[in-house]
Amino acid sequence: MERTQLVDKINRLRKECNAVILAHNYVLGEVQEIADFVGDSLELSIKAAGVTAGVIVFCGVKFMAETAKILSPEKMVLHPVPQAGCPMADMATAEQVRALKRRHPDAVVVCYVNSTAEVKAEVDICCTSANAAKIVAAIPADREIIFMPDCNLGANIAAELRRKLILWPGCCPVHQRLTPEMVRRRRREFPNAALFVHPECAPEVVALADAALSTGGMLRYVRESEAKEFIVGTEQGIIYRLARENPDKTFVALSEQAICPDMKLTTLEDVLAALEKKQYQVDLPADILTRARLPISRMLEASV
Ligand code: 13P
Ligand code: SF4
Repeated sequence: MERTQLVDKINRLRKECNAVILAHNYVLGEVQEIADFVGDSLELSIKAAGVTAGVIVFCGVKFMAETAKILSPEKMVLHPVPQAGCPMADMATAEQVRALKRRHPDAVVVCYVNSTAEVKAEVDICCTSANAAKIVAAIPADREIIFMPDCNLGANIAAELRRKLILWPGCCPVHQRLTPEMVRRRRREFPNAALFVHPECAPEVVALADAALSTGGMLRYVRESEAKEFIVGTEQGIIYRLARENPDKTFVALSEQAICPDMKLTTLEDVLAALEKKQYQVDLPADILTRARLPISRMLEASV
């Protein structure tokens, strides 16, 4: 089917179904193009919590669609490609969290939203890359903190706040591949460029960057910056939106290899099939929905 035909069909069906299409900043440009809202994990959670439409089509990875369902359990949440997951989210199980909590019974467990719903059901408060430092800083200084599952994000916050955190041995395979040598090489190639990275990068990479930001923070940073060239230290999908919203500025990836395969799985055909067949519905056990809502709601309350 031609692209324009596909888009026409999606537009007709989304009206008929009273559906809203949410997409993460990393998904394919063609999907960002047709979304009602594109954003980072925090922005998407806030949006999902306030949706009035009856159906949410979530274009992103599984934990994001699950978070939308947890926040709007009465809505039908469709995840067009159910195998689109986040490898970091799969680096922690609920049983492993319970075991660590038994060893640190007084610790506050702060959990990055890149985690499964079952894991969220075990923790005290969630965070995203946009609010992690604020959430950790609000915990009384005498409390022990477990930060999971991203050890890089945790180490970056620990350094920023000069606070000791118990770190989980998880990370994002895409950001883990970015190295200080890549930063030095790009700096030599583009000496006038500003360079920002995602806080999922290792601390030695963050230390060499001009800023470490959530994907939403990157969009604001570029909008407000006087620089004309930018080196982008995160998944490359964000460059589509950066370039579109800032046609007078240029962008180069810190690494051409920084591609999250899961974020690229959702196509326009999948969005259309999701609307046509009402697939694939996110369905979580009632007790997980209830228990996982608390740490996410605490995060949203702490983010205002
Ligand atoms: P953001 O919340 O910054 O968009 O990041 C989500 C993510 O998965 C980064 O890899
Ligand atoms: Fe997960 Fe990394 Fe992909 Fe983000 S970029 S969804 S953290 S694997």
